[in-house]
Amino acid sequence: FVLFFLFSNFMGSCAFVSLEHNITSSSFPLNFLFGTASSSYQFEGAFSSDGKGLSNWDVFTHKPGTIIDGTNGDVAVDHYHRYKEDVDLMEYIGVNSYRFSLSWARILPKGRFGHLNRAGIDYYNRLIDALLNRGIEPFVTITHYDIPQALEDRYGGWLSPKIQEEFRYYADICFKYFGDRVKHWVTFNEPNVAVICGYRTGVYPPSHCSGSFGNCSYGDSEREPFIAASNLILSHVSAVDVYRNKYQKNQGGKIGIVMNAVWYEPFSNSSEDKLAAERAQSFNMNWFLDPIILGKYPKEMHDILGPDLLPFSKYDLEKLKSGLDFVGINHYTSYYVKDCIFSTCEQGKGSSKTEGFALTSPQMNGLNIGEPTALAWLYVHPQGMEKIVTYIKDRYNNIPMFITENGFGMTENSYPTSKDVLNDVKRVEYLSGYLDSLATAIRKGADVRGYFLWSLLDNFEWNHGYSIRFGLHHVDFETLNRTPRVSAFWYKNFIVEHKART
Ligand code: NOJ
Repeated sequence: FVLFFLFSNFMGSCAFVSLEHNITSSSFPLNFLFGTASSSYQFEGAFSSDGKGLSNWDVFTHKPGTIIDGTNGDVAVDHYHRYKEDVDLMEYIGVNSYRFSLSWARILPKGRFGHLNRAGIDYYNRLIDALLNRGIEPFVTITHYDIPQALEDRYGGWLSPKIQEEFRYYADICFKYFGDRVKHWVTFNEPNVAVICGYRTGVYPPSHCSGSFGNCSYGDSEREPFIAASNLILSHVSAVDVYRNKYQKNQGGKIGIVMNAVWYEPFSNSSEDKLAAERAQSFNMNWFLDPIILGKYPKEMHDILGPDLLPFSKYDLEKLKSGLDFVGINHYTSYYVKDCIFSTCEQGKGSSKTEGFALTSPQMNGLNIGEPTALAWLYVHPQGMEKIVTYIKDRYNNIPMFITENGFGMTENSYPTSKDVLNDVKRVEYLSGYLDSLATAIRKGADVRGYFLWSLLDNFEWNHGYSIRFGLHHVDFETLNRTPRVSAFWYKNFIVEHKART
């Protein structure tokens, strides 16, 4: 029955999809990477096994009140022990790449002053080899939010410039042990989100709040997000510098960074709202990409923050020249942006250092560019994909890009009946719309080289714990059984169709 159920739904989805993709040749280039994405804390579990040190997320989630459903990533989806089964699932879907992250605390439990944990190196070697044996390319993020707690304690995390040397040392070890087989490296996942949530709203570790944001009482300076960002940017370039000088020539890989990339649509055609949308982009994505690619912070940030935006020293500017080889784009959603400098508007709650814009939902005053979902921050606006990719293409001289994340989160109880947990038609609609929009951007000349769907499995969704599910596979968190949803079969078919057309 289950098979019949899945198959009939699968056929339904396919009929929908082939209508949507009624073209003869694939819009995606021949060597395009199709994959799924994950991260160490959200997937691995085994949080204290085989010599792993505690990470900032291990400590944070064990504090009461940090995670909506009171859960943590101690076990997560136990990818650490079940990676072989998960590689089988990937092989069945037919992906040619897998994006995952390394746990810094599994490799260096106490940072550079501690020992190297051989068991951690062995685990990632086993995972990388299992992938390559099935023709799946590892696409590796060095740090996806989780850092050793020892570094949090020693340096105050990203607030101290000393962490740059720690990251350089750690990245060197990653290139040394895995770089013979890993050809795509990402230094950081969404550093823009890490600094805003860690040092402004306080919802991620180290839970610092600034201005009137959040409800933690650290009461620290409003400059912290900018100090942390500066250290992340300089850590990125340090790692790139090591790669370029010691490894890249022999190993022949590429290195980049992954940004949270929202599409900001001006709320009206007024020049004020257009400028506000540009400011929003500058304070989110360009904040990191401009220094790394163009060697300076965006003008909008200088204008508003003045000296609060730490200037780069002559030495830093020299280091920034290491740049990157590609930009990773995590794109899920779009917002309207309204000006708050030239006109009055209700600013985002708690904003103290005014950035001069208000983000509003994509549905407002009869204007509607997006559909709401179970997640407050996720609105469905497929055209946002083409727009953000084109924006990056134009701003950074058509730099090579990868869509390193795109996906759809749902709650379990948003399904009418229990059998519907596998029938994720909404996810299929979301994915096909966004992939279509990406195909358009590529046809118009954007140099996009891969797409990673978030995610292969339901997993630990940060502050939402296990209550929000992003998986192509449903995970029963009691038994940890994985069951494919309709979207898994749909993605498989999508990849087959792409291959047939190239
Ligand atoms: C981006 C983050 O990189 C990932 O960790 C998270 O689970 C997804 N967005 C979905 O929220």
